[in-house]
Amino acid sequence: MSGQASSAERSRIQGAKYDFTATYNRRWPHAYFRALLALDYMLPDRAKPIFERIFADYRRVRNKTKLKIIDVGCSYGVNAALLRTDLDLDDLHAAYLGPSGSLSRRQEIEHRAFFRNQGLRDDIQFVGVDPSFRAVRYALDLGLIEAGVTTDLETRDLTIKERSALADADILISTGCVGYATEATFARVYEASATSRPWVVAFASHRFGYDDIAAALRAFSLETRLVERFRQRQCRFSPTERQAILKAMAKLGIEDRLERTTGYIYASCYISAPPGEAL
Ligand SMILES: C[S@@+](CC[C@H](N)C(=O)[O-])C[C@H]1O[C@@H](n2cnc3c(N)ncnc32)[C@H](O)[C@@H]1O
Repeated sequence: MSGQASSAERSRIQGAKYDFTATYNRRWPHAYFRALLALDYMLPDRAKPIFERIFADYRRVRNKTKLKIIDVGCSYGVNAALLRTDLDLDDLHAAYLGPSGSLSRRQEIEHRAFFRNQGLRDDIQFVGVDPSFRAVRYALDLGLIEAGVTTDLETRDLTIKERSALADADILISTGCVGYATEATFARVYEASATSRPWVVAFASHRFGYDDIAAALRAFSLETRLVERFRQRQCRFSPTERQAILKAMAKLGIEDRLERTTGYIYASCYISAPPGEAL
Protein backbone atom coordinates (compact mmCIF):
# COMPACT_ATOMS: atom_id res chain seq x y z
CA MET A 1 0.00 0.00 0.00
CA SER A 2 1.27 3.48 -0.75
CA GLY A 3 2.53 5.94 1.84
CA GLN A 4 0.13 7.98 3.87
CA ALA A 5 -0.19 11.76 3.66
CA SER A 6 -0.55 13.73 6.85
CA SER A 7 -3.55 16.04 6.85
CA ALA A 8 -1.21 19.03 6.25
CA GLU A 9 0.30 17.22 3.27
CA ARG A 10 -3.15 16.30 2.03
CA SER A 11 -4.20 19.93 1.97
CA ARG A 12 -0.99 20.91 0.20
CA ILE A 13 -1.55 18.24 -2.49
CA GLN A 14 -5.17 19.28 -2.72
CA GLY A 15 -3.91 22.82 -3.35
CA ALA A 16 -1.96 21.50 -6.32
CA LYS A 17 -5.04 19.81 -7.71
CA TYR A 18 -6.49 21.27 -10.90
CA ASP A 19 -9.52 23.01 -9.57
CA PHE A 20 -12.74 22.27 -11.33
CA THR A 21 -14.74 22.41 -8.11
CA ALA A 22 -16.70 25.34 -9.54
CA THR A 23 -18.44 22.84 -11.82
CA TYR A 24 -19.32 20.32 -9.09
CA ASN A 25 -22.51 21.81 -7.79
CA ARG A 26 -24.51 23.13 -10.72
CA ARG A 27 -28.06 22.43 -11.73
CA TRP A 28 -26.90 20.78 -14.95
CA PRO A 29 -23.74 18.72 -15.51
CA HIS A 30 -22.65 20.31 -18.78
CA ALA A 31 -19.85 22.49 -17.36
CA TYR A 32 -18.55 19.54 -15.31
CA PHE A 33 -18.35 17.37 -18.40
CA ARG A 34 -16.57 20.13 -20.31
CA ALA A 35 -14.00 20.35 -17.50
CA LEU A 36 -13.55 16.56 -17.56
CA LEU A 37 -13.01 16.61 -21.30
CA ALA A 38 -10.43 19.39 -21.04
CA LEU A 39 -8.36 17.18 -18.71
CA ASP A 40 -9.18 13.94 -20.52
CA TYR A 41 -10.62 12.62 -17.25
CA MET A 42 -11.48 9.00 -18.01
CA LEU A 43 -11.52 7.23 -14.66
CA PRO A 44 -15.22 6.25 -14.52
CA ASP A 45 -14.92 4.78 -18.03
CA ARG A 46 -11.78 2.84 -17.14
CA ALA A 47 -13.25 1.73 -13.81
CA LYS A 48 -16.50 0.44 -15.35
CA PRO A 49 -15.24 -3.04 -16.41
CA ILE A 50 -13.48 -3.46 -13.05
CA PHE A 51 -16.64 -2.60 -11.14
CA GLU A 52 -18.61 -4.98 -13.38
CA ARG A 53 -16.18 -7.79 -12.69
CA ILE A 54 -16.36 -7.17 -8.94
CA PHE A 55 -20.16 -6.95 -9.03
CA ALA A 56 -20.16 -10.37 -10.76
CA ASP A 57 -17.84 -11.80 -8.08
CA TYR A 58 -20.02 -10.35 -5.35
CA ARG A 59 -23.22 -11.78 -6.89
CA ARG A 60 -21.58 -15.21 -7.02
CA VAL A 61 -20.13 -15.09 -3.48
CA ARG A 62 -23.28 -13.69 -1.86
CA ASN A 63 -25.74 -15.42 -4.18
CA LYS A 64 -27.57 -12.18 -4.99
CA THR A 65 -28.82 -10.67 -8.22
CA LYS A 66 -30.12 -7.24 -7.28
CA LEU A 67 -27.42 -4.94 -5.93
CA LYS A 68 -27.55 -1.78 -3.88
CA ILE A 69 -24.47 0.32 -4.60
CA ILE A 70 -23.37 3.37 -2.63
CA ASP A 71 -21.30 5.80 -4.69
CA VAL A 72 -19.17 8.05 -2.47
CA GLY A 73 -18.64 11.31 -4.40
CA CYS A 74 -21.39 10.40 -6.88
CA SER A 75 -21.50 13.86 -8.44
CA TYR A 76 -24.07 13.96 -11.27
CA GLY A 77 -24.47 10.17 -11.15
CA VAL A 78 -21.67 9.46 -13.63
CA ASN A 79 -20.89 5.93 -12.36
CA ALA A 80 -24.59 5.10 -12.14
CA ALA A 81 -25.13 6.32 -15.71
CA LEU A 82 -22.28 4.16 -17.00
CA LEU A 83 -23.02 1.06 -14.94
CA ARG A 84 -26.78 1.05 -15.52
CA THR A 85 -26.49 1.42 -19.32
CA ASP A 86 -24.25 0.32 -22.19
CA LEU A 87 -23.02 3.91 -22.56
CA ASP A 88 -19.42 5.00 -22.25
CA LEU A 89 -18.05 8.36 -21.21
CA ASP A 90 -17.87 9.58 -24.82
CA ASP A 91 -21.61 8.94 -25.16
CA LEU A 92 -22.15 11.09 -22.07
CA HIS A 93 -19.91 13.84 -23.44
CA ALA A 94 -21.92 13.82 -26.64
CA ALA A 95 -25.16 14.04 -24.65
CA TYR A 96 -23.83 16.90 -22.56
CA LEU A 97 -22.39 19.05 -25.34
CA GLY A 98 -24.17 22.34 -25.46
CA PRO A 99 -24.74 25.25 -23.14
CA SER A 100 -23.43 25.13 -19.59
CA GLY A 101 -25.71 27.83 -18.22
CA SER A 102 -29.44 27.46 -18.22
CA LEU A 103 -31.04 25.12 -20.70
CA SER A 104 -34.04 26.13 -22.76
CA ARG A 105 -37.28 24.38 -21.87
CA ARG A 106 -37.01 22.25 -25.01
CA GLN A 107 -33.39 21.27 -24.21
CA GLU A 108 -34.42 20.39 -20.66
CA ILE A 109 -37.18 18.08 -21.88
CA GLU A 110 -34.87 16.42 -24.41
CA HIS A 111 -32.15 15.98 -21.83
CA ARG A 112 -34.47 14.47 -19.23
CA ALA A 113 -35.59 11.90 -21.81
CA PHE A 114 -32.01 10.88 -22.59
CA PHE A 115 -31.46 8.28 -19.85
CA ARG A 116 -35.07 7.16 -19.88
CA ASN A 117 -34.57 6.25 -23.53
CA GLN A 118 -31.45 4.23 -22.67
CA GLY A 119 -33.47 1.81 -20.54
CA LEU A 120 -31.64 2.04 -17.21
CA ARG A 121 -31.11 -1.46 -15.80
CA ASP A 122 -32.83 -1.94 -12.48
CA ASP A 123 -30.85 -4.86 -11.06
CA ILE A 124 -28.33 -2.27 -9.83
CA GLN A 125 -29.65 0.54 -7.64
CA PHE A 126 -27.54 3.47 -6.53
CA VAL A 127 -27.45 5.70 -3.50
CA GLY A 128 -25.25 8.75 -4.04
CA VAL A 129 -23.19 10.42 -1.30
CA ASP A 130 -21.95 13.89 -2.18
CA PRO A 131 -22.28 17.32 -0.55
CA SER A 132 -22.77 18.85 -4.02
CA PHE A 133 -26.50 18.86 -3.50
CA ARG A 134 -27.45 20.24 -6.92
CA ALA A 135 -25.51 17.47 -8.64
CA VAL A 136 -27.19 14.86 -6.43
CA ARG A 137 -30.58 16.45 -7.14
CA TYR A 138 -29.86 16.16 -10.88
CA ALA A 139 -28.93 12.45 -10.53
CA LEU A 140 -32.14 11.84 -8.56
CA ASP A 141 -34.34 13.78 -10.99
CA LEU A 142 -33.01 11.85 -13.96
CA GLY A 143 -33.57 8.52 -12.22
CA LEU A 144 -29.87 7.62 -12.12
CA ILE A 145 -29.83 7.19 -8.33
CA GLU A 146 -32.58 6.09 -5.93
CA ALA A 147 -31.54 8.23 -2.99
CA GLY A 148 -28.93 10.83 -2.10
CA VAL A 149 -26.98 11.84 1.00
CA THR A 150 -25.80 15.43 0.77
CA THR A 151 -24.47 16.00 4.29
CA ASP A 152 -20.71 16.60 4.27
CA LEU A 153 -19.68 13.50 6.23
CA GLU A 154 -16.18 14.87 6.77
CA THR A 155 -17.59 17.11 9.45
CA ARG A 156 -21.11 15.98 10.28
CA ASP A 157 -22.99 12.84 11.22
CA LEU A 158 -25.68 11.21 9.14
CA THR A 159 -29.29 12.00 9.87
CA ILE A 160 -31.62 9.10 10.69
CA LYS A 161 -33.19 9.36 7.24
CA GLU A 162 -29.77 9.28 5.57
CA ARG A 163 -28.72 6.26 7.65
CA SER A 164 -31.73 4.33 6.50
CA ALA A 165 -30.96 5.24 2.85
CA LEU A 166 -27.53 3.62 3.28
CA ALA A 167 -28.72 0.47 5.07
CA ASP A 168 -28.56 -2.95 3.36
CA ALA A 169 -25.90 -1.87 0.88
CA ASP A 170 -23.97 -4.45 -1.11
CA ILE A 171 -20.96 -2.48 -2.36
CA LEU A 172 -19.53 1.00 -1.76
CA ILE A 173 -17.71 2.42 -4.78
CA SER A 174 -15.80 5.65 -5.37
CA THR A 175 -13.95 7.35 -8.24
CA GLY A 176 -12.11 10.66 -8.10
CA CYS A 177 -13.28 11.43 -4.58
CA VAL A 178 -10.64 10.06 -2.16
CA GLY A 179 -8.82 13.14 -0.94
CA TYR A 180 -12.03 15.14 -0.72
CA ALA A 181 -13.55 12.28 1.26
CA THR A 182 -11.28 10.78 3.90
CA GLU A 183 -11.59 8.02 6.48
CA ALA A 184 -14.17 10.16 8.32
CA THR A 185 -16.66 9.89 5.45
CA PHE A 186 -15.90 6.24 4.66
CA ALA A 187 -16.29 5.24 8.33
CA ARG A 188 -19.63 7.02 8.65
CA VAL A 189 -20.98 5.54 5.43
CA TYR A 190 -19.76 2.05 6.31
CA GLU A 191 -21.09 2.18 9.83
CA ALA A 192 -24.59 2.97 8.53
CA SER A 193 -24.56 -0.06 6.24
CA ALA A 194 -22.31 -2.42 8.23
CA THR A 195 -25.05 -4.95 9.03
CA SER A 196 -25.02 -6.19 5.42
CA ARG A 197 -21.18 -6.32 5.40
CA PRO A 198 -20.79 -4.48 2.06
CA TRP A 199 -17.57 -4.61 0.06
CA VAL A 200 -15.73 -1.36 -0.69
CA VAL A 201 -14.09 -0.73 -4.08
CA ALA A 202 -12.36 2.63 -4.35
CA PHE A 203 -10.10 4.17 -6.95
CA ALA A 204 -7.73 6.59 -5.23
CA SER A 205 -5.65 9.03 -7.25
CA HIS A 206 -1.92 8.39 -6.86
CA ARG A 207 -1.52 11.69 -5.12
CA PHE A 208 -3.36 10.25 -2.12
CA GLY A 209 -2.62 7.35 0.19
CA TYR A 210 -5.35 4.97 1.34
CA ASP A 211 -3.91 3.77 4.64
CA ASP A 212 -6.25 5.80 6.85
CA ILE A 213 -9.34 4.61 4.99
CA ALA A 214 -8.11 0.99 5.10
CA ALA A 215 -7.55 1.39 8.86
CA ALA A 216 -11.06 2.78 9.34
CA LEU A 217 -12.48 -0.21 7.42
CA ARG A 218 -10.34 -2.61 9.45
CA ALA A 219 -12.29 -1.47 12.49
CA PHE A 220 -15.30 -3.12 10.77
CA SER A 221 -13.22 -6.31 10.27
CA LEU A 222 -12.65 -5.70 6.56
CA GLU A 223 -9.40 -6.63 4.84
CA THR A 224 -8.17 -4.14 2.23
CA ARG A 225 -6.10 -5.14 -0.77
CA LEU A 226 -4.41 -2.95 -3.32
CA VAL A 227 -5.02 -4.71 -6.64
CA GLU A 228 -2.10 -3.55 -8.80
CA ARG A 229 -3.49 -4.82 -12.08
CA PHE A 230 -6.70 -2.81 -11.67
CA ARG A 231 -4.79 0.50 -11.58
CA GLN A 232 -6.30 2.91 -14.14
CA ARG A 233 -5.59 6.18 -15.87
CA GLN A 234 -7.44 9.04 -14.23
CA CYS A 235 -6.72 12.21 -16.22
CA ARG A 236 -3.98 14.33 -17.76
CA PHE A 237 -1.86 16.59 -15.57
CA SER A 238 -2.92 20.16 -15.97
CA PRO A 239 0.07 22.35 -16.89
CA THR A 240 0.08 24.01 -13.47
CA GLU A 241 -0.08 20.94 -11.24
CA ARG A 242 2.46 18.50 -12.71
CA GLN A 243 5.54 19.42 -10.70
CA ALA A 244 3.70 19.89 -7.44
CA ILE A 245 1.97 16.51 -7.70
CA LEU A 246 5.12 14.62 -8.71
CA LYS A 247 6.90 16.20 -5.77
CA ALA A 248 4.10 15.29 -3.42
CA MET A 249 4.02 11.72 -4.74
CA ALA A 250 7.77 11.41 -4.20
CA LYS A 251 7.31 12.58 -0.65
CA LEU A 252 4.59 10.01 -0.09
CA GLY A 253 6.79 7.28 -1.60
CA ILE A 254 4.33 6.64 -4.43
CA GLU A 255 6.02 5.30 -7.57
CA ASP A 256 5.63 7.78 -10.47
CA ARG A 257 7.08 5.96 -13.51
CA LEU A 258 3.72 5.91 -15.33
CA GLU A 259 2.97 9.54 -14.56
CA ARG A 260 6.37 10.64 -15.86
CA THR A 261 6.10 8.49 -18.98
CA THR A 262 2.56 9.26 -20.07
CA GLY A 263 1.70 12.65 -18.61
CA TYR A 264 -1.40 11.16 -17.02
CA ILE A 265 -2.23 10.73 -13.33
CA TYR A 266 -3.23 7.19 -12.33
CA ALA A 267 -5.55 5.83 -9.67
CA SER A 268 -5.02 2.68 -7.62
CA CYS A 269 -7.85 0.26 -6.95
CA TYR A 270 -8.42 -0.86 -3.36
CA ILE A 271 -10.88 -3.61 -2.51
CA SER A 272 -12.06 -4.21 1.05
CA ALA A 273 -14.17 -7.18 2.10
CA PRO A 274 -14.64 -9.59 4.99
CA PRO A 275 -11.63 -11.94 5.14
CA GLY A 276 -11.59 -14.57 2.40
CA GLU A 277 -14.55 -13.14 0.43
CA ALA A 278 -13.32 -10.91 -2.41
CA LEU A 279 -11.28 -12.00 -5.47
C1 LIG B 1 -13.62 14.75 -9.38
S1 LIG B 1 -15.28 14.65 -8.84
C2 LIG B 1 -15.59 12.92 -9.14
C3 LIG B 1 -17.03 12.65 -9.39
C4 LIG B 1 -17.36 11.28 -9.96
N1 LIG B 1 -17.19 10.25 -8.96
C5 LIG B 1 -16.54 11.00 -11.18
O1 LIG B 1 -15.62 10.17 -11.11
O2 LIG B 1 -16.80 11.63 -12.22
C6 LIG B 1 -15.16 14.75 -7.06
C7 LIG B 1 -16.51 14.69 -6.36
O3 LIG B 1 -16.26 14.60 -4.96
C8 LIG B 1 -17.27 15.33 -4.32
N2 LIG B 1 -16.90 15.63 -2.94
C9 LIG B 1 -16.21 16.70 -2.45
N3 LIG B 1 -16.13 16.62 -1.10
C10 LIG B 1 -16.78 15.48 -0.74
C11 LIG B 1 -17.05 14.84 0.49
N4 LIG B 1 -16.64 15.37 1.65
N5 LIG B 1 -17.75 13.69 0.49
C12 LIG B 1 -18.17 13.13 -0.67
N6 LIG B 1 -17.95 13.70 -1.88
C13 LIG B 1 -17.27 14.85 -1.91
C14 LIG B 1 -17.43 16.57 -5.19
O4 LIG B 1 -18.64 17.25 -4.90
C15 LIG B 1 -17.37 15.93 -6.57
O5 LIG B 1 -18.65 15.56 -7.01
